[in-house]
Amino acid sequence: MTEAAEADDLRRLNAATARLEPPFAVVDLAALRSNAAVMVRRAAGTPIRLASKSVRCRRLIEDALTMDGIRGVLAFTVPEALWLAESQVSDDIVVAYPTADATALARLAGHPRAALAVTVMVDSIDHLDLIARAAATVTDPRPVRVAIDIDAGYLAAGGLLRAGARRSPIRSPAQAAALARAIAARPGLRLAGVLAYEAQIAGLGDDPPGRPAYARAVRVMQRRSAAELAGRRAAIVAAVRDVAPIEFVNGGGTGSIAATAAEPAVTEIGAGSGLYQPRLFDGYRSFRGRPAALFALPVVRRPGRGAATVLGGGYLASGPGDRSRLPFPYLPAGLRLDGNEGAGEVQTPVLGAAADGLRLGDRVWFRHAKAGELCEHFNELQLIEGSAVVATVPTYRGEGKAFL
Ligand SMILES: Cc1ncc(COP(=O)(O)O)c(C=O)c1O
Repeated sequence: MTEAAEADDLRRLNAATARLEPPFAVVDLAALRSNAAVMVRRAAGTPIRLASKSVRCRRLIEDALTMDGIRGVLAFTVPEALWLAESQVSDDIVVAYPTADATALARLAGHPRAALAVTVMVDSIDHLDLIARAAATVTDPRPVRVAIDIDAGYLAAGGLLRAGARRSPIRSPAQAAALARAIAARPGLRLAGVLAYEAQIAGLGDDPPGRPAYARAVRVMQRRSAAELAGRRAAIVAAVRDVAPIEFVNGGGTGSIAATAAEPAVTEIGAGSGLYQPRLFDGYRSFRGRPAALFALPVVRRPGRGAATVLGGGYLASGPGDRSRLPFPYLPAGLRLDGNEGAGEVQTPVLGAAADGLRLGDRVWFRHAKAGELCEHFNELQLIEGSAVVATVPTYRGEGKAFL
C-alpha cells in the first residue's frame, strides 16, 4: 500500500469506529470478500472447505459458506463440530484433528443428524477402538464417519531432515490401505475421506521479508516436497479407493491453494486464514491478500519522544515462540515494537517517528500474526463496510465457546 492509501485507511477505520472505546477488534468486510474471491479463484474450481479455526466467528463462517466455491467446514474439535451441526451452520463438517474426547464421540454416535454431518479424523487402530468404546455407551449408536489423516511432511537426507507438521504415522499407500481395511471391517464406522495437510508449503511463506537466503532454502524444499507429495498422495488415494469408495480427499491450506488444487487426486482444499490475511500470510510470492482482521488499542501514555504506549497488546500467535508470532503495529504506518518488551500483557510500547503524532486516547491498529486466534481475545467483532460499522457479531469466545 502507498503512504497515501495507508493514511486513507487509517482515517476510514478511525471514522467508522469513532464511537467505540478501544480495545476492540474489527473485520473489514470489503477486504474479507476480496480475499475470499482471490482464494476461490486460486482454487480454480476445486471447492474450499473452510478452516473454522482460522475464522472463529459463527456469523462470518455462515456468510463464507454462502459463497460459490466455499463448501463445508474443516472444524477443529468434536464439541465444536457438534455445535455447528446442531445450530445448522453446516451439515458437512470434517474435524481435521483426532480426538480423545469420549464424551463428545458418544454424543456424536447418539445424534442421528450430527452423525451424518460430521466426520472425525483417525490415523491408528487406537482411534478406531476409542470411537467404538464411546459409541458402545449409547443406545442405538449411528455409524461414525471417519477420515484417514496422512503424513504429508517432507523427509530429506534419509529421514534425518523433516519439514512439516508432525501429524499422522500413516505415510505410505500400504499403511493407508491397511487402516482403510480396518475401518471397512467395523460396522460402526464409515470411511468418508482422506486428509493430507502439507504445512511446510501451505503454512510457510516462501518470501519472508529480509531473509533472502532462508527464502531460497524454503523454495527448494517446497519444490521438492510438492513433487514428492503429488505422487505419494495420488498413490495413497488409489490404494484407499481400492478398499472402499471415499467422498473426499482434502489437502492444502491458504498458502498452497493453487498448487494443491492442481493435483488430480485432491477433491477439496482446507483453508481459512486467507480470509483475514494475517501478518504471517504476507510472506508468499504467489498471492497478496488485504488485511481484513485488525484490532485497535488506545494510547494510554507517552513515555518520551518517538514512543507511545498502548493498553494491552500481548496477543501472541501459536507456533515456535519467535518474533514472527508477535502482533504487528499496522497503522499509523511506521511504528514498531520495542525489541526488549515485545507485546505486553497489559501495555505495549510502540516506537517510531509516527508515535510523536499520537495523543492519549488515539488508536493504534494492529494485525495478529495468525488468523482465528485473534478471536480468543475479543468477545465481539465489529464488521466494517466502507467507513461504518454495520454489525457487531460475537466471536466463538463471545458465545462462551473457547474450544481451544
Ligand atoms: C488440516 C489443515 N488443513 C488446512 C489448514 C490450513 O488452514 P489455513 O488456510 O486457515 O491456514 C490447516 C492449518 O493448520 C490444517 O491443520
